[in-house]
Amino acid sequence: MHLFLYGPPGAGKTTIGKILARNLNLPFVDLDRIIEANAEKPIPQIMNEQGETAFRDLEASALKALCSPLAENKQGGGRGAVVALGGGALLRDENRALAESSGKVILLMAGLETLLERLERDSEKRPLLAGDVRGKLTSLLETREEHYASFPLKLHVDGKSAEQSAYHAQMIFGRHHLSAMGEYDVRVGQIPNLLPGDLIVTDENVAKYHLQKLPHTPAIILPPGEEHKNLETVSRLWKSFLQHGLDRKSTVIALGGGVISDLTGFAASTYMRGIAWIAVPTTLLAMVDASLGGKTGIDLPEGKNLIGSFHPPKLVLADPSLLLTLSDRELRSGMAEVVKHGVISDPELFEMCSRGMDWAKENIQTIVKRAMAVKIQVIEQDPYEKDIRAALNLGHTVGHAVELVSGFKLSHGEAVAIGMVTEAKYAERIGIARKGVANMIGEVLSQLGLPVEIPNDISREEMIPLMRVDKKRSAGSIRFALPVEIGRVELVEVDVLEDVL
Ligand SMILES: NC(=O)c1ccc[n+]([C@@H]2O[C@H](COP(=O)([O-])OP(=O)(O)OC[C@H]3O[C@@H](n4cnc5c(N)ncnc54)[C@H](O)[C@@H]3O)[C@@H](O)[C@H]2O)c1
Repeated sequence: MHLFLYGPPGAGKTTIGKILARNLNLPFVDLDRIIEANAEKPIPQIMNEQGETAFRDLEASALKALCSPLAENKQGGGRGAVVALGGGALLRDENRALAESSGKVILLMAGLETLLERLERDSEKRPLLAGDVRGKLTSLLETREEHYASFPLKLHVDGKSAEQSAYHAQMIFGRHHLSAMGEYDVRVGQIPNLLPGDLIVTDENVAKYHLQKLPHTPAIILPPGEEHKNLETVSRLWKSFLQHGLDRKSTVIALGGGVISDLTGFAASTYMRGIAWIAVPTTLLAMVDASLGGKTGIDLPEGKNLIGSFHPPKLVLADPSLLLTLSDRELRSGMAEVVKHGVISDPELFEMCSRGMDWAKENIQTIVKRAMAVKIQVIEQDPYEKDIRAALNLGHTVGHAVELVSGFKLSHGEAVAIGMVTEAKYAERIGIARKGVANMIGEVLSQLGLPVEIPNDISREEMIPLMRVDKKRSAGSIRFALPVEIGRVELVEVDVLEDVL
């Protein structure tokens, strides 16, 4: 599965492609350089001596070779390559069909002035533009206008650095490579019906809708629900692993929401001192949060997630189409975490959330990709939560307590929504947050149909000790992640918890 960058000359396909390949730990291929190597002469010379049609023939055969199954398997250990295409490489229908069936194509777009500025620097390398660069480029863009416009994935590079464009390309492709804790890929896309795993762990609800998508792997089907995220279930998993003959080389697949990924990851981290696992998240919350970052664990009656380990999966595969079967309530709950990610560092994502549930459902791919990107940036900076990763706990200290006191009548996301607004109000009171931030967060969450206040029947007195045993405690005081403004949070030590509530 290759990642192709395409677009007019000067759009930055090579520069951005190299950065993208480095970020994704994939090989980088410049199709023009392959053509030159095959022909043993530079492209201007091929054009001069043989003409454009002959050049296009060479281009077509170079692309064909690159997309052959053999070459794809070799590139990046079967993970494909980042490929910069020449500006007219997909003009031929058969080339386009080949590229689109061998991977994904992003069209890089730039305004005429940006293109010119870059092209004038190396016009001699561009035989189709030699001489009057402006005139020739203008007419080339006119001729290819419809062609370029027909590519569904587009990235506007004007005003962005090459690094920023590469990061955006990652979001559009839905591809990341994590290396701060373990080395693994995160991919957004359809799940193949054969995944390299020995046993699936899932729950009854997910099994009903999605287990048939992975027909070749045996499965353990657990009862659904947070109340099963405990040592008894882990013990059941360990025994099932044994019965299925799993050994240290085996891989288990967690197909489900955050409860399944936390349980499976934890069971995998401890079985035979650690075996591999793959996360196939099936809730929005699990896609944008629980499956990322390698935290696995279970609850104790005294508090959530008190027992656990860091054990990253070897692959995260998020297929947003699996969310179609999710109940409205669960989808809304997941949106609470998406809002949280917007508040932490992506104001544009926060603005998207303000468009409401219908918009979010229609644009769920975009929502998943953007929200995942926020979490990935944070966990890559601080994988073991020494510092900034604690920002991801925004809304969770209050959220976990209110969730527990409600006896899980409130879902995790609903509890986090209440927690975020409660903590934001506190942040305003103590002068950390700008005035109005709590209101803005509350409005967006309400717009998504999420609760924003601690229900009257929840006892604050019962919440305090639960907040204290919450795992984020540090030396007596509790460290809160508090919003400063939309897109920025700060970590603050709080001694008197009653003040927060
Ligand atoms: N490890 C981490 O970093 C991390 C981060 C955030 C949350 N979590 C944990 O995640 C858990 C919450 O995750 P969750 O909200 O995904 O809960 P969940 O796993 O309980 O799933 C919610 C419900 O949706 C059902 N479901 C799942 N996918 C479905 C689908 N595609 N179609 C229909 N039904 C489906 C499940 O059976 C369940 O009933 C909590 O335990 C929380 O502590 C962990």
